[in-house]
Formats: sequence, structure tokens, C-alpha cells
Amino acid sequence: MTKGLVVAIDGTAGSGKSTTAKKAAEALGFFYLDTGAMYRAITWKIINAKIDLCDTNSIKKLVAQTKIDITKDNRIMLDNKDMAEEIRKPEIDKLVSQVSVLPIVRQKMVSEQHRIAKGRNVICEGRDIGSVVFPNANLKIYLDCDLEERTTRREKELKEKGIKVTRKAIKENFLERDYIDSTREHSPLRKTDDAVFLDTTNLTIEEEVKIVTDMISDRLLNKIDANPTAENLTTAEERL
Ligand code: DC
Repeated sequence: MTKGLVVAIDGTAGSGKSTTAKKAAEALGFFYLDTGAMYRAITWKIINAKIDLCDTNSIKKLVAQTKIDITKDNRIMLDNKDMAEEIRKPEIDKLVSQVSVLPIVRQKMVSEQHRIAKGRNVICEGRDIGSVVFPNANLKIYLDCDLEERTTRREKELKEKGIKVTRKAIKENFLERDYIDSTREHSPLRKTDDAVFLDTTNLTIEEEVKIVTDMISDRLLNKIDANPTAENLTTAEERL
């Protein structure tokens, strides 16, 4: 199989990017690159170092001394420590968007993302993948989902992990993160003109994964110039 194919998946918080990207990558033998996990890991380090977000010098030093990687089996490693559990906690949800605004953090993450993706077929998911990290991606997909549905899904996920958070808090966190992520000065979340829009509100995870997997197979692997027919798909701006 050719190496170096890039699928960029961007979208709002909780819209299903991670699960879809992960499962599609597994099905197709691509490397799954979860860039949100990288921003979450650096956020954890800043919180633990008790550094104020306005203290640019300290953050610069901390970032320079940070080793971040994603292993072949998709484990997020921060200074050689597996961060999988730590980064999904509500305290990280609360601060990650504010950390992600910082240009010094973004520069480091983007350069690491390029390093990790090099020579691989990747499905890379985040907020600025199609616009900044891989503007020449072979396929760009933008996911969104109704806020109530996103909240229901996250509520279920957290409950299964035994983490107690109210529905109101989940919803407010999504709204706040989407606001910060899409209005920040550097690399804001946006749908590029060449991205395929997929509304996941009425889709099961299986349907969502199938649509994305088929799209990648048809367009990149089988080179079928597919015209998506699923009613949830549209490249028009009208849904944004
Ligand atoms: O995808 P996620 O919810 O795990 O991402 C957590 C936060 O990280 C998100 O609210 C904004 C930031 N992020 C970013 O700024 N750019 C990316 N490419 C990915 C995530």
C-alpha cells in the first residue's frame, strides 16, 4: 500500500472524531493520530507544574523540555509516561482549550504531529488539521453533532468510567471549548472549503465509522471519484 496518505478529520468537541478516526484507522490499517490527546497531555503537565497560563517564559521552558509521542498502539506518551487515563479527566477538559490558544504550545504540537505522521498513512483528528497541520491532506472531513446528542454521548462515556459530572457541566464545557477553539487567533477550528461535512447527530457509531471508512476506501484506496449519497453528507456551508 502507498505510504503518506493523510486523512484530516476536524470538528467540534464531542462530535465523534476520536472514535470514528480510531475505528476507521483500525479497519484500514492507517495510523490514528489523536492530536487532542497531545494538547491534553501538555495541559496536564502545565497544571501539575502549577504554571500560570500568562507566564509565557515558564511555559516556553516547559514546552522545550517536553517529550511527546504517540506509540504504534496509540498510547499517548508524555516524557515517556503513558497518559491515557490522566488526560480524560474533567480538570483537563476545563483548561485544555485555554492552553491550546498559546502559539508556543501549538508550534511544538504541530511539529511533533508532522514528525509522527511522516512516512505513514494517517487518519489525523483535531481542530486545525485540514486548515493548518495538513492543508494538502488527501481527504478532509468535518464532523459536527447536535449539542444535546453530544452531551448524552459524553454523559454515558463518563458514567461508564465512573466519573461523576452533571449534564449541565458537560454541556457548558462543550460550549466553552467550541467557542474558544473556533474564535482563537491562531489556527481556529473551521471547516475548509474542500472538507466533506458529516453531521453525526442521527448516526450510530457503526454507521459513522462505515461512512468514513467507505469514503476513505473509495476515494483514496480504490480511487473511485465517489459522490457521497448518504443524506448526512454535504460539502455545502449551509450547516455551519
Ligand atoms: O479532541 P479533544 O476534545 O480531545 O481536544 C481537546 C482540546 O485540544 C480541544 O478543545 C482544543 C485542543 N485541540 C486543538 O487546539 N487543536 C487540535 N488539533 C486538537 C485539539
